[in-house]
Amino acid sequence: MRMYDLITKKKHGGELSLSELRYMIGGYVQGEIADYQMAAMLMAIWFQGMTDAETAGLTQVMAASGDQVDLSPIPGLKVDKHSTGGVGDKTTLVVAPIVAACGGKVAKMSGRGLGHTGGTVDKLEAIPGLRTSLSQAEFFRIVKENGLAVVGQSGNLAPADKKLYALRDVTATVDSIPLIASSIMSKKLAAGSDCILLDVKLGSGAFMKTLPDAEKLARTMVNIGEAAGRRTVALITDMDVPLGNAIGNAPEVTEAVDTLRGRGPADLTAECIQLAANMLYLVGKGDIAYCRELSAQAIANGTAFGKLCAMAAAQGGDTAVLYDTGRFVPAAHRFSVTATQNGYITHMNAEQCGIASVVLGAGREMKDSLIDMAAGIRMLKKYGDAVSEGEPIAWLYANEAGKLAEAARVYSAAITIGREPPPARPLIYARIEKEKNNKKPV
Ligand code: URA
Repeated sequence: MRMYDLITKKKHGGELSLSELRYMIGGYVQGEIADYQMAAMLMAIWFQGMTDAETAGLTQVMAASGDQVDLSPIPGLKVDKHSTGGVGDKTTLVVAPIVAACGGKVAKMSGRGLGHTGGTVDKLEAIPGLRTSLSQAEFFRIVKENGLAVVGQSGNLAPADKKLYALRDVTATVDSIPLIASSIMSKKLAAGSDCILLDVKLGSGAFMKTLPDAEKLARTMVNIGEAAGRRTVALITDMDVPLGNAIGNAPEVTEAVDTLRGRGPADLTAECIQLAANMLYLVGKGDIAYCRELSAQAIANGTAFGKLCAMAAAQGGDTAVLYDTGRFVPAAHRFSVTATQNGYITHMNAEQCGIASVVLGAGREMKDSLIDMAAGIRMLKKYGDAVSEGEPIAWLYANEAGKLAEAARVYSAAITIGREPPPARPLIYARIEKEKNNKKPV
């Protein structure tokens, strides 16, 4: 077999067989196939796409390229969740404790921030002392005892994806549905959970900018999960507007705690209840309506907040900042962004809002940049809100004063103010499940 022939086949729209995919991925991980040939293949895939069978085969081969976690020593069904990435998306910090409080098991490997999107591992590390790198024995023990643990991805999980993602990043081939689906699902399959809830983001802050594309990605991933024997559901959720009111690491942990204590923003609370309900449904706790009730109760009776604290303590974190979020060390500087005219916020470019928070220091400008845990944005006014000229619409926080002006410029440019109130936006667009792959009401 020759990589040259496989590139030619794909260039003309042919379907790669499982043995060809094995040859290609195995050779690439071993360093026997060069980046320039793989780059040509990625671009051919970008233009020609892949069949469902081919995407599932690619995922299977990528999942098998490194460690595959066996979670069977943890009794019961384990459920994972994956968001395709967003701004202000702190849902894992709320949803995993809710699911654990209702008897589900969440043994989760999460990522760090990527570009303008935040990552759960960075957010958790805002809790002083909390370790996201645990031995497998510790990870399993904490899930057995508390029902949840969240760690960083192990070094050898789907190494094919790590190498391919870095190449896609520099060859303009990230935004391909079969490549995104195989990248995400290879890691989910290798991480070992029995059930997977996918949160496919749609809008200005997401990879998917249109509903048909988001549905195609969601369906492709649900098919891959189900074909591999994992119960898989996808929700398509809004990321045209940042989620909740806080962006940044410690600010998002604070907002997650507020939400678990029943005083979170309405959009975040509603979305977390839907996500948690779907995870509980997947592990067989009942129908969606009943699982929504269970989730709301776990917030109301404090058991979900108790689970977050138990997990943080078990992973070495100082829970004092969770019981009193005022103990998070505040940023040295605060700057307000004001409305430029009277009217209503008619658009928020979520990606640019995320970039403003990266400029403040909440994300990484370079691969090895240090994160400023206190940096971030508190959005005082959001999509649809009435504003008056000169009124503060957001506070920006940073420890380096020199970053504020540029971040304010980026944030202001992300906000559009119009004369008329804009139409209401859905929070959840669709739910996709295997049976007939139909869209169901949420
Ligand atoms: N997240 C991933 O893990 N992979 C992609 O390709 C896109 C988002």
